[in-house]
Amino acid sequence: MLMTEARTHQAEAFQRVDATPLPVLLQVQGVTLQYKTPQHLVTATYRVDFDVHEADRFVILGPSGCGKSTLLKAVGGFMNPVEGSMRIRGREISGPGPDRMMVFQEFEQLMPWKTVLQNVLFPMKVSGRFKGADARERALSALAKVNLSKFADVYPHMLSGGMKMRVAIARAMAMEPDILLMDEPFAALDALTRRKMQEELLGLWDQLHFTVMFVTHSIEEAILVGSRILVLSPHPGRVRAELNSTGFGHGSVDHPDFGRLSKRIHDFLFEDELAVEVRS
Ligand SMILES: Nc1ncnc2c1ncn2[C@@H]1O[C@H](COP(=O)(O)OP(=O)(O)O)[C@@H](O)[C@H]1O
Ligand SMILES: [Mg+2]
Repeated sequence: MLMTEARTHQAEAFQRVDATPLPVLLQVQGVTLQYKTPQHLVTATYRVDFDVHEADRFVILGPSGCGKSTLLKAVGGFMNPVEGSMRIRGREISGPGPDRMMVFQEFEQLMPWKTVLQNVLFPMKVSGRFKGADARERALSALAKVNLSKFADVYPHMLSGGMKMRVAIARAMAMEPDILLMDEPFAALDALTRRKMQEELLGLWDQLHFTVMFVTHSIEEAILVGSRILVLSPHPGRVRAELNSTGFGHGSVDHPDFGRLSKRIHDFLFEDELAVEVRS
């Protein structure tokens, strides 16, 4: 069994998920997504199928331009499929909603002139979903969940990167979404910071078991962060494979199982290129 001590709690959850799968939260069936510009019709994804179950850390992995962001935008309700269907808890997705909260890249969406608490309150107020004392209570409770109660009244610039991420997650979670959507949130970070952020995200998941859809183009990050990995082909994105990635922490990067999974994913990603090389 592959797990570090820190991941034990997580591994228990995986075993539970493996034994009796939690309910399906998001169903994506035969989804083709296109952009129409006056000159071109760009097919971003082609007939993509997958299910996200509750408490999945569902990773979309694929090369640049394969339609990962487009897929996430469509789940967010900002784009409609030209064919296929996307359902959340059985309801067709027809536009953005507080049940699907996007956590943006590098957490730059935090407003520097607002305190941590005011930042968490902001979407609740703007959406009108929660108001007054109720909103405040929910915001404080979300901050407590991410262990930031003591920082409610400070400004974002006083926080570390990891803390900012926790504020961004608290802010999204205060809206009580079904799913968090994260589009390459760590892509621009240096290796060490990136690793800390991955740890921080996993630590938070160990505690809260939220459902997250996480986009990356890094095989290593997909294995570390994900519990399920959807591997997409290059442009237009089609599903190459869907794999389990359970029980891998930073401590297991050098383990042969990690290397084997990494190699398998690599082969799925580079299928066409390999075929071309053999032929030429
Ligand atoms: N607004 C847009 N208009 C036209 N084409 C777009 C637009 N956004 C993305 N694309 C194209 O759709 C494809 C998928 O893009 P994207 O989803 O951003 O890929 P990824 O996130 O995997 O890098 C690419 O070919 C890209 O050029
Ligand atoms: Mg992208």
